[in-house]
Amino acid sequence: MLDKVCDRPAFPGKGRLGVSVRGKHIAVFKVGDEFFALERYCSHAGGDLLDGMVENGTVACPVHGATFDLRSGKFVESEYVSPHLARAMHDTKAYRVVVKDGAVFVDVP
Ligand code: FES
Repeated sequence: MLDKVCDRPAFPGKGRLGVSVRGKHIAVFKVGDEFFALERYCSHAGGDLLDGMVENGTVACPVHGATFDLRSGKFVESEYVSPHLARAMHDTKAYRVVVKDGAVFVDVP
């Protein structure tokens, strides 16, 4: 089900927006002309991915550095995460983003 999160021109210039959609906390990112949405809080210990570093199609959790693919939510190895933590990590939830009629929507099943 598509839920509108904001009008496209109103998307924050910093390229990230936190929303709550039917009980799900979601971080929406805009990178160039593309939008991505992930479960907002890190699957490790709840770090706020909205404050994470975005680069190369990933976001790194600001707490311990777990890094997630913006498109798929898959955990990816990176320089920001220790080998010990990497063994304990799992993927996070990614949501499909649709831009239509001048607005940004997130598909929350
Ligand atoms: S809370 Fe995100 S890596 Fe630990």
